[in-house]
Amino acid sequence: MAWKTLDDMDLAGKRVLTRVDLNVPMDGGRVSDATRIDRIVPTLKDIVAAGGTPVLLAHFGRPKGQHVPEMSLRPVVPALEAACGLPVTFAADCRGPAAAAAIDGVAPGGVVLLENTRFYPGEEKNDPDLAADFAALGDIYCNDAFSAAHRAHASTEALARLLPACAGRLMQAELSALETALGDPVRPVVAVVGGAKVSTKLDLLGNLVGKVDHLVIGGGMANTFLAAQGIDVGKSLAEHDMTATASEIMAKAEAAGCEIILPGDVVVAREFKAGADNETVAADACPSDAMILDAGPQTVARIAATLDTAKTLIWNGPLGAFEIPPFDTATNAAASQAAALTAAGGLTSVAGGGDTVAALNQAGAAARFTYISTAGGAFLEWMEGKVLPGVAALGG
Ligand code: 3PG
Ligand code: MG
Repeated sequence: MAWKTLDDMDLAGKRVLTRVDLNVPMDGGRVSDATRIDRIVPTLKDIVAAGGTPVLLAHFGRPKGQHVPEMSLRPVVPALEAACGLPVTFAADCRGPAAAAAIDGVAPGGVVLLENTRFYPGEEKNDPDLAADFAALGDIYCNDAFSAAHRAHASTEALARLLPACAGRLMQAELSALETALGDPVRPVVAVVGGAKVSTKLDLLGNLVGKVDHLVIGGGMANTFLAAQGIDVGKSLAEHDMTATASEIMAKAEAAGCEIILPGDVVVAREFKAGADNETVAADACPSDAMILDAGPQTVARIAATLDTAKTLIWNGPLGAFEIPPFDTATNAAASQAAALTAAGGLTSVAGGGDTVAALNQAGAAARFTYISTAGGAFLEWMEGKVLPGVAALGG
């Protein structure tokens, strides 16, 4: 990797401005899923062990440049302290005297958390003045927020250019997993892409067909591909205005030698609800008053056979309506298969983006995947082949 890491920096006695992603789910004022917090702990511990003070910069929600009390980062403090086992001092501002005073007052071995960077409009504008105010608070910049690296914001982009900059441990882990999965993967490579809409994953599919050997398409977007082949998908979710685009992606895949795997059989129902009456039919036999809600068992078997021969898997999005059982069956089966192959040592499996982690957790498969990204949008943009501004600014 071309960018520096914490190992390249002299951290002793330094204030290390560390961009983290604390955009975590909250329920009743408490953190309900601490995954993102747990994953930054190695960075905080390594900085403290080297004699530095982590000064955390983070956003929460989308306050649009206003001071929105409900989007304060203060309620995250208890979960952060519990995760890292270090005392956390909260500063009610992310710039200026209040921030400086909190940093000056912290004892060695402590962590400072600054208030939501998005309370200032300059954050999302990548404002050099705000970045300069951040820089004045520290000696070194460490970006550990891969999941916010698709944003060119003052705390993710401009600031990286004002101080000696490095990647944190989570950023390193994310980048190395992604490089393993798509940068320089061991072949054959399978991508599983699901989700509702082709329109949101167009660039991603276009990029993947040039890079992977097999592309499994599931979820609502598979219906658009079926429709593009002239198949009547009944009342299924499908973007009928995207069928020409789907055809182009199929042609591009064929030219690139990428096999696209679409459902050959499907589970259909007349109602979109858990436990709805359902039947399994051939993909071209969806009744006109029914909708496709999952891939069928023959499709699952074909996906399993493809995974059996694969060496690398990259997964984004569920294969069916996984939130309403039994239409989570194909997602669960394919995820379990991938997890088992990974645990047996034959497969490197990387997953991320949006609903993916929830689906793999529900399948009980996430813990056995090689790597689960903390990123949503950033994972998708990276799968699209885009350069992420927060990574580029590290000089990598
Ligand atoms: C996320 O939760 O995906 C990241 O923190 C980025 O948040 P954003 O989509 O509001 O920029
Ligand atoms: Mg997002």
